[in-house]
Amino acid sequence: MSESTEQRKSRHLDVCLDDDVASRLDAGWQAVRLRHEALPEIALADVDVGTAFLGLPLRAPLLISSMTGGTARAAEINRRLARGAEAAGIAFALGSGRAMLEDDTLRATFDVRPVAPRVVLFANLGAVQLNYGVRVDDARRLVDMLDANGLYLHLNPLQEAIQRGGDTNFRALQPKIAALCEALDVPVIAKSVGSGIAPSTAARLLECGVAAIDVAGAGGTSWARVEGKRSGDAARERIAEAFADWGYPTPRATAALRAALPAVPLVASGGIRDGVHVAKALALGADVAGLALPFLRAADESECAVATLIDELVAALRIAMFATGSRHVTDLRDALA
Ligand SMILES: Cc1cc2nc3c(=O)[nH]c(=O)nc-3n(C[C@H](O)[C@H](O)[C@H](O)COP(=O)(O)O)c2cc1C
Repeated sequence: MSESTEQRKSRHLDVCLDDDVASRLDAGWQAVRLRHEALPEIALADVDVGTAFLGLPLRAPLLISSMTGGTARAAEINRRLARGAEAAGIAFALGSGRAMLEDDTLRATFDVRPVAPRVVLFANLGAVQLNYGVRVDDARRLVDMLDANGLYLHLNPLQEAIQRGGDTNFRALQPKIAALCEALDVPVIAKSVGSGIAPSTAARLLECGVAAIDVAGAGGTSWARVEGKRSGDAARERIAEAFADWGYPTPRATAALRAALPAVPLVASGGIRDGVHVAKALALGADVAGLALPFLRAADESECAVATLIDELVAALRIAMFATGSRHVTDLRDALA
């Protein structure tokens, strides 16, 4: 990877950790109410947070969302996240592997199998890269080299448009996504990066053969703001700030996707910050809930902080399930007030 790309990746981490990159949108979690059950008729110990996603068993319906790779610092963050995910039996998604495809020496910064041999693991690529030289074979190579259980394909037109020299040719990607889904023998999951995915777009992605949708909606990390702040260019930052509340808020987008696509495997992410948000996301129809920035902060601190964050998310989810009388995660679907 060229030094400038390495610096860009490192700046992303710094900006996300040090600056205010939160969406200016109120995602609306407070308006989502769960039905409090004063007489649950179960014991807290009866609550079972186990589930499966794309046929892969998880001990809790949680995902560490795609973030990083490509630098020594990213390598350590990925290892801490992967070990935490494996120990807790939750899923883990790596950041975009494009840099690794360009430079094999970066493989070790993504390759977490040596430290997490059993974790449910997803590789990641930008869909637009299919218009910039990444071929189906490259995607297969990425999945194989990382021994991933699936491939996340991110859709980030807003981020690319704000980034100086961003990859903004999103023409005719659908047939390329379809060819990719056809060729890979692992599932492809389509995600946004904090702007959400409309039901009609999700339907087009499913027609391409995508196996699951991750809404990655608005209300959490704003990639417009990240790119604006990273640019060091006042005019670009002003343009970026105009998009600070852009996108579909995660709760609403999750409910809309579930209503339109009753059977699609669905991840809710973007602005999920505690276990009650997780419970609400599942009640709105998600199968799994994903968090990115909170896990970056924890991993930047220590491996122990990653474990603590997972424990707290699971503890609050279990209590929310108990207090709604939900024995299984799917019972939460009946828990909306
Ligand atoms: C430091 C950082 C790097 C990220 N890199 C990627 C990436 O490479 N690929 C991707 O699909 N999403 C990436 N994302 C977006 C997240 O996966 C997620 O969709 C977004 O941050 C919203 O979730 P959050 O509000 O929990 O942070 C990144 C997020 C962060 C914080």
